[in-house]
Amino acid sequence: KYYVLDSPAISDAEYDNLFRELQRIEEEYPELITPYSPTQRVGAKPLSAFKKLKHTVPMLSLESLMSENELTDFFRRVYDGLKGKTDKPVEFVCELKFDGLAVELVYEKGKLLHASTRGDGITGEDVTQNIKTIPSVPLVLRGDDAAIPELIEVRGEVIMRIDEFERLNEEREKNGDTLFANPRNAAAGSLRQLDPSITASRKLEIYVYGTGVVKGKDMETHFNTLNFLKQLGLRVNKYIRLCRKDSDVIEFYRSIEKKRQSLPYEIDGIVIKLNDYSQQKILGERARTPRYAAAYKFPPRQVETVLEDIIDQVGRTGVITPVAVLNPVRLSGVKIQRATLHNINEIERKDIRIGDTVIVQRAGDVIPEVVAPVRSKRPGDCLLYTSPSPRDLSTSRMPSSA
Ligand code: IVH
Repeated sequence: KYYVLDSPAISDAEYDNLFRELQRIEEEYPELITPYSPTQRVGAKPLSAFKKLKHTVPMLSLESLMSENELTDFFRRVYDGLKGKTDKPVEFVCELKFDGLAVELVYEKGKLLHASTRGDGITGEDVTQNIKTIPSVPLVLRGDDAAIPELIEVRGEVIMRIDEFERLNEEREKNGDTLFANPRNAAAGSLRQLDPSITASRKLEIYVYGTGVVKGKDMETHFNTLNFLKQLGLRVNKYIRLCRKDSDVIEFYRSIEKKRQSLPYEIDGIVIKLNDYSQQKILGERARTPRYAAAYKFPPRQVETVLEDIIDQVGRTGVITPVAVLNPVRLSGVKIQRATLHNINEIERKDIRIGDTVIVQRAGDVIPEVVAPVRSKRPGDCLLYTSPSPRDLSTSRMPSSA
C-alpha cells in the first residue's frame, strides 16, 4: 500500500515497529526466515560479476515517432495491416514512456525467482539481488494460489525520481565523485552495482508495463494485462488510457505533455500499443521492433552541441555572468545559440572547456543552460576559461594542459 499504491494504511512508526518485531522473531527462530521476507531485501553479499540471463522472449525496443505526421503514418500502417483480418474494433492503450532502464522480473508460483536487465534484448544481466532492494518490487505476488499464474515474466522500467537524482548528485559532489548526467544514467549506474547495499542506498522505483511468458493465465488484451498486473500487487502507473479513436491518442499525448513538467520523474514521450493480442499477432514484429506499438516522443529537452566560446556578460549591477556561445542547435523547437554557464565556479566544478561538446538543457520556460561536457568527445586543443580580472573585462585564455 505504501510503495506500490501510494496509499499507506498504517503510520511509518507502526510499520517500523512491525518490522522490528519481525526482525526479533527471525533472530530467535532463524528457521522461519524465507528469501521473501521483507527483512531479506538488503544484506546480500557483493558479487564479483553479474551472471548472464537469456530472456525467454526477446525484449524488443520501440520505433520512435517524432511528429504528428509520423503518428498518422503509424496508424495508417496498423489499419492497413489489419484490413480484412480482424472483426474486432481497433483500440490502443497509451502509457508514459519512462526514461529509465528496462528490466524483467520472473515470478514462479508468485515468488520472485530472478530479475535481469534488458541488455541487448536477447541476453541481460542477472540483477536479482539489486532488484530485491527496490521497495516497490513485490517479493511475493498478491492473491490466493488459484489467481496467481504458475510463471509470469513481468517487464517494466526502473527509474530514479528527479529529487533523488539531485540528492545523489549533491552527495557525490561533496565526496568529489563524478556526477550523473541525468536520472536515467543514475538509475542504470545504481542498478548495475555489484554490491547490493549501494543499490539499496539509492532510492529506485519501478513501473511495470507488460509481460513476457505467462503460464497458467490467458490474457486477450494489453489493457486487461495491466489491470491483472495491478491485482497481483505490481506497480502500474496511473496514467494509462484505453483509446478507441486516433484522436484519443493525440489528446493523451497533449495532456501528458502539459503534465510532464510537474511529474516527479522523467519521461520522454508516450507509448502507444495495440490493445488486442490477436491483432498484435497479425501485425507481428520487425527485427528489433514490433509493428503493433511505437513511442511518440516529446521534443528532447537536452541536446549536444559544441561550445565555441565563452563571453562575459556584465549585468547592470556589475555582476559578470559567463555565457556560452554555442554552435546553433534546435531545442524544443527553438534555435539556441547562447546558454548560461551561471558563474565561474560552475564552469570549474563541471570542468567545461571551450571546444567541448556540451549537453545543453532547457527546463520548462527558463533560459537554456549548459549541463555538462561530454568528456569522451573532448578535443585535444580545447581551451580553459579564465575569469576576467575586475580591471580587464576582456577574457584571457590559456591553452589547457589536457
Ligand atoms: S514496452 C514491445 N512500455 O522504451 C514493447 N517500453 O524503446 C517494448 N519504455 O526498452 C517495450 N516506457 O526501456 C514499453 N510504457 C512503456 C515504456 C517502455 C519506457 C522503454 C523500455 C524499452 C524502450 C523501447
